[in-house]
Amino acid sequence: MIIAMNGVTGRMGYRQHLLRSVLAINEQGGLTLADGSRVKLRPILVGRSEAKLADLAAKHDIPDYTTDLDAAIAEADVYFDAQVTQARVKAVLKAIEAGKHVYAEKPTAETVEEAVTLANAATAAGVKNGVVQDKLFLPGLLKLKRLIDGGFFGRILSVRGEFGYWVFEGDWQEAQRPSWNYRSQDGGGIILDMFPHWHYVLENLFGSVQSVYAKAVTHIPTRVDEQGNSYEATADDAAYGIFELSGGIVAQINSSWAVRVNREELVEFQVDGTHGSAVAGLRNCRFQSRAGTPKPVWNPDLPVTHRFVDDWQYVPDNGEFDNGFKIQWEMFLRHVLEDAPFPYDFAAGARGVQLAQLGLQSSAEGRRVEVTSL
Ligand SMILES: NC(=O)c1ccc[n+]([C@@H]2O[C@H](COP(=O)([O-])OP(=O)(O)OC[C@H]3O[C@@H](n4cnc5c(N)ncnc54)[C@H](O)[C@@H]3O)[C@@H](O)[C@H]2O)c1
Repeated sequence: MIIAMNGVTGRMGYRQHLLRSVLAINEQGGLTLADGSRVKLRPILVGRSEAKLADLAAKHDIPDYTTDLDAAIAEADVYFDAQVTQARVKAVLKAIEAGKHVYAEKPTAETVEEAVTLANAATAAGVKNGVVQDKLFLPGLLKLKRLIDGGFFGRILSVRGEFGYWVFEGDWQEAQRPSWNYRSQDGGGIILDMFPHWHYVLENLFGSVQSVYAKAVTHIPTRVDEQGNSYEATADDAAYGIFELSGGIVAQINSSWAVRVNREELVEFQVDGTHGSAVAGLRNCRFQSRAGTPKPVWNPDLPVTHRFVDDWQYVPDNGEFDNGFKIQWEMFLRHVLEDAPFPYDFAAGARGVQLAQLGLQSSAEGRRVEVTSL
């Protein structure tokens, strides 16, 4: 199976998709199909810099690399895109027009119109299509899903998510994210980056998103780029959002690259239900049941002697958790090769882009915006 992989010199393309997924699948002997047979993957590295591609190819013993996107698509069975968001639509459309199956990072596009165009084009061409929804396969969220499926919560009332960490401005310490993330003209912004994630997490675990109210902010107006030059941060670096879900669940999620971490993990979702609550992060999930709930009484005159954080218990692993990107790659490739189910298609990707676009609209207009069906 030949996979043209575009954007493999980038953070996600290299580490998660090439190393931890495609090469890792080959290292375990290939992709196992339902009949027990094994399929080896042959990546063609695609990019703009021949030198960088040659380096990567040599380092990992990969025979095929090229700067010629059309040639790579022509040869491939599957086209994969982890380029900067802005470059995605054009390249993916090319692959669809060539009749190739397509798998892409989120967001699939910068605007709903383009995201829907991609979904429609893929459907019309009859090619298999998929969008990365890696957070669903994080151990912490899988444990949370286990609690939901087991009826632990009773009726779920609310979800509160905290995501974020301090991204250095780039002056006295190098920034740990690419500078395009902070320029809206280059496809940056935390809403466009994170709301597609929140969309599929909410949709898959709790219910469809009915409305959004968001406040987008640029807390740090000037940053320093990879070359050491100051630039104006034109994109939002924090977003404070409220989402109403089907079934009356209220979700409130803060996303920020300008917050210092005071949590167990970089993202945490607290879910409160009539019969129990849980806090899920990337790897862990803690829970507190109805019977184990303490009865706090508000009295600021007395020091707090009870340690509330100690009342929570960890959900056990009860199994091994593989890399989430790899799990989803395997699912997508089985979808291509043996028509196995794969719900994370370009239509789902478009709904994620829609939530981002409506979040930005909500912030600009200062009002709650309903999510209409696409
Ligand atoms: N699933 C996730 O958790 C997750 C996390 C981070 C980023 N992403 C997505 O992955 C994509 C890549 O993000 P990243 O953080 O790896 O970015 P990055 O800047 O590290 O990599 C971008 C890649 O795109 C290539 N590229 C193609 N055209 C380009 C252009 N015109 N300008 C600059 N680079 C160009 C670069 O060479 C590089 O290979 C984005 O769409 C982003 O939204 C997903």
